[in-house]
Amino acid sequence: MKKIIIKGNKVLSGTINIAGAKNSAVALIPAAILSDEFTSIYNVPNISDKNALINILKELNCQVLEDNNILTINSSKLKNTLIKEELSSKLRASYYFMGALLGKCKHVEICLPGGCNIGARPIDYHLKGFKQLGATIKIEDNKYIIDAKVLKGANIYLDFPSVGATINLMLASIKATGKTIIYNAAKEPEIVNIATFLNNMGAKITGAGTSEITIEGVDYLHKAIVEVIPDRIEAATYIMAGALMGDNLKINGVIKEHMESLLSKLTEMGIEYNIKDFELTISKNDNMKPVSIKSQVFPGFVTDMGQPMSVLLTQCNGVSFFEETIYDNRMGHVKYLNNMGADIKVKENTEIICGKTNLHGCKVIATDLRAGAAMVLAGLVASGTTEISQIEHILRGYENIIEKLNNVGADVKLVEE
Ligand code: EPU
Repeated sequence: MKKIIIKGNKVLSGTINIAGAKNSAVALIPAAILSDEFTSIYNVPNISDKNALINILKELNCQVLEDNNILTINSSKLKNTLIKEELSSKLRASYYFMGALLGKCKHVEICLPGGCNIGARPIDYHLKGFKQLGATIKIEDNKYIIDAKVLKGANIYLDFPSVGATINLMLASIKATGKTIIYNAAKEPEIVNIATFLNNMGAKITGAGTSEITIEGVDYLHKAIVEVIPDRIEAATYIMAGALMGDNLKINGVIKEHMESLLSKLTEMGIEYNIKDFELTISKNDNMKPVSIKSQVFPGFVTDMGQPMSVLLTQCNGVSFFEETIYDNRMGHVKYLNNMGADIKVKENTEIICGKTNLHGCKVIATDLRAGAAMVLAGLVASGTTEISQIEHILRGYENIIEKLNNVGADVKLVEE
């Protein structure tokens, strides 16, 4: 069993380089199979979710070459076989093979996806959209069988701007006959990254990044390259580390337009930062003001930043509120922060965080990926030693987190028992 041990209260200074975005990379890799030639994806983060997707590609008889952070995928000899549970359940994003295989082969057999346990995560919008494109769906035990004689463009309205459904429907409709319009589409920067990749292959997608995306079906998708955008959630996590413990900590790889909701909250809290080109510099602030935050779809405050943000709010002078509106069970971190000395009460889906509280190290659990990020931040600011278990969650989404933190002055160890 792997654990992360943090000796806290160390000043952080130097530069942290941000990796490619997990939530883009995990969709770009399945999207690559739509090309009938080969594709290269640059700036792929070295996280365990990437490895899980490569295993699926190999099962589908795709050739995969890894060279540092570049993945080259050749799917010209793809064999469309069942994606078994041992592969699909490793991560949420295995479900992008539904859209990609349906789009390419008009037939998919895949077991249930996995992912963080942060509440009910249905995929009804994905399935409803596939049906509107002409597919039939059978669910047998833990397996989806999705099949279409022909895929025909359709007008699809999403009841909620779901990131996953928007991407899956772009993938499924890319080779459909005629025009597909996705109304109430998700607008997250990752959607634009995926659409750019598909357009580089010869797809005809317009409107990505707005709530109406149009896809004109094409017959053939050729070779293409794409670069994964910087990970705005990883950047946010380290920016918060800087606000807690930084002395001119530099975060390199920040696209300001992707992070306005966080940056404006930092300003409201009285935290100063400088941003020049793609580098943000931030220092510890001992006098942070409390704030109220509500998670929303982009460009609102992203749900994935909520759990790490809770740690920052424990260090504000006064009562802060964080309302989680996207998931119904994203509060796994609260119990452990309270064990470390925080004063957080949960009322329905809102955390009421009374600060400022001194945190002290103890044994905690990373109940999911972003709860794990919160535990790391808490460990950095706490006195004494914090021991985090179930860190597989953290390694799914944070590239080289131990090295990145130690390089800027933290005392973090990964131990294996
Ligand atoms: N929803 C449905 N039906 C659907 C699809 C979604 O009811 O068919 C609901 C979900 O239950 C949720 C809401 O709609 O309440 C939003 O879900 P969405 O589909 O947007 O989320 P997702 O695609 O499953 C991605 C990220 C999440 C991130 C969300 C929101 C990936 C692999 N995951 O999930 O990332 O929280 O978008 O931005 O891209 C994380 O990185 O820690 C993480 C959980």
